[in-house]
Amino acid sequence: MERTLCIIKPDAVRLNNVGNIVAMIQAAGFRILGMKLTKISPEVAGAFYEVHKERPFYGELVNFMSSGAIVPIALEKENAIADWRALIGATDPAEAAEGTIRKNYATSKGENAVHGSDSVENGLREVGFFFSESELINNA
Ligand code: RTP
Ligand code: MG
Repeated sequence: MERTLCIIKPDAVRLNNVGNIVAMIQAAGFRILGMKLTKISPEVAGAFYEVHKERPFYGELVNFMSSGAIVPIALEKENAIADWRALIGATDPAEAAEGTIRKNYATSKGENAVHGSDSVENGLREVGFFFSESELINNA
């Protein structure tokens, strides 16, 4: 079993797509271990995306991720990292495949509806960024 962190980003929350995205998560067979509605400061958003600190889009990304409510969701599934990235689609919705979350719901390359962890190690670290172990429900 792998864990990955989904974040429903502020654009998708503003457009009332939380329910649609959760439906796609459940239809694809992910187990939801934790889910919350929250809002993060620029400092917290900056820490979460610290790996991108030197990238030209970092400031924009931090502003966007702290611009409104987000829904972090801790997901578990066999092969969760790759399967979640396949379900969310390419970073730029113009390049995302039909039937992916970003194809359906992303606004632009920067405002692209959802986040997904990029490795098993980062999945565990990012779930831990938003959830303590005692908040995660395992109904296995
Ligand atoms: P994420 O980490 O959010 O799941 O997205 P990703 O792996 O598909 O893309 P990544 O390269 O990790 O970039 C993180 C987020 O930064 C924003 N971004 N904007 N304007 C741009 O050129 C640009 N490039 C990246 C997006 O919100 C992207 O998801
Ligand atoms: Mg990434």
